Amino acid sequence: MNHPTPRFFTTIIPAAALLLAGCGRSDAPAGKAAKETAPVTLGFMVKQPEEPWFQLEWKFADQAATDLGFRLIRIGATDGEKVLAGIDSLAATGAKGLVICTPDTRLGPAIAAKAKAAGLKLLAVDDQFIGADGRPMTAVHYLGISAAKIGESVGQTLAGEMKKRGWTPADTAVCVTTFDELATARERTDGALRALAAAGIPEKNLFRAPMRTPDIPGSFDAVTTLLTRQGSVRNWLVCGFNDNAVLGAVRALEGAGIGADRAVAIGINGTDCIVELEKPKPTAFHGSMLLSAKDHGYRTCEMMFRWIRDGVEPPLDSRTTGVLITRDNFRQVLREQGVRE
Ligand code: GLA
Repeated sequence: MNHPTPRFFTTIIPAAALLLAGCGRSDAPAGKAAKETAPVTLGFMVKQPEEPWFQLEWKFADQAATDLGFRLIRIGATDGEKVLAGIDSLAATGAKGLVICTPDTRLGPAIAAKAKAAGLKLLAVDDQFIGADGRPMTAVHYLGISAAKIGESVGQTLAGEMKKRGWTPADTAVCVTTFDELATARERTDGALRALAAAGIPEKNLFRAPMRTPDIPGSFDAVTTLLTRQGSVRNWLVCGFNDNAVLGAVRALEGAGIGADRAVAIGINGTDCIVELEKPKPTAFHGSMLLSAKDHGYRTCEMMFRWIRDGVEPPLDSRTTGVLITRDNFRQVLREQGVRE
């Protein structure tokens, strides 16, 4: 007998529709043979489906589904309710694993308990779960970035750009947009500040602008507020925990009449700033630490798939690195990394 062609498909299904599809399924294959050929189903939930970073994770997860032959269900889970409803839906469709970037890391214990009850293997990506004791849940498998190291690279790069421009630590200040409730964000911005202090920027010139929301409006508002108080600063070095945290800052500086001649900014992700780098006239947004969306999207799914199918448990903690992209090299690097054609 010929083996049936495996059905490789991916879908974006709202949680409610999924639930219905799961409940109403009457054509489910039965028996041992059917069990062997039924594709593995995995869920991939992300907290901010509108962010290019997460869209790319999904794109690479789709690629893994095609290459390896599993079924992928993508769920945009922007709050705790959606996460929990999504887990119910996945369980109803017979999914066996969940890769998730949670909208709130403190939901960790609830997600872990619900996934266990639903028979889903669990892998946290990007944002590590935080336990009831306020510490990272190291027993839950996790793949994230080497946050402190990448933050330090941002700081060192900014210090180098300061020197290249002939600015001195005395006439230069740092604007770092912060989002301290997220551990990976805090580690990145703390790392950048450490490196900038080590490069000689005086403590009194290091300004934190706390964001209320982790997006462009959040960083825009935070920096607009900072600038009303620090109007006499000559030159600005700008960083934040991701591209959006920096793009909003750059827009706020422009609003105060400060452009590329007096500010230099470096983001993190490298995926949400492409339009900015393509602008014909350079803005203060100098570059970004490009992270590996392929590792976060493809590799996480591959780990999960092998765990389910072959019993190969992934490492508990995997970390990925970043590489600087600027206007000079971004097209080539993005092509090499499969982010763009
Ligand atoms: C967090 C951020 C994302 C991205 C990932 C990378 O989830 O919100 O923008 O930087 O980390 O792991």
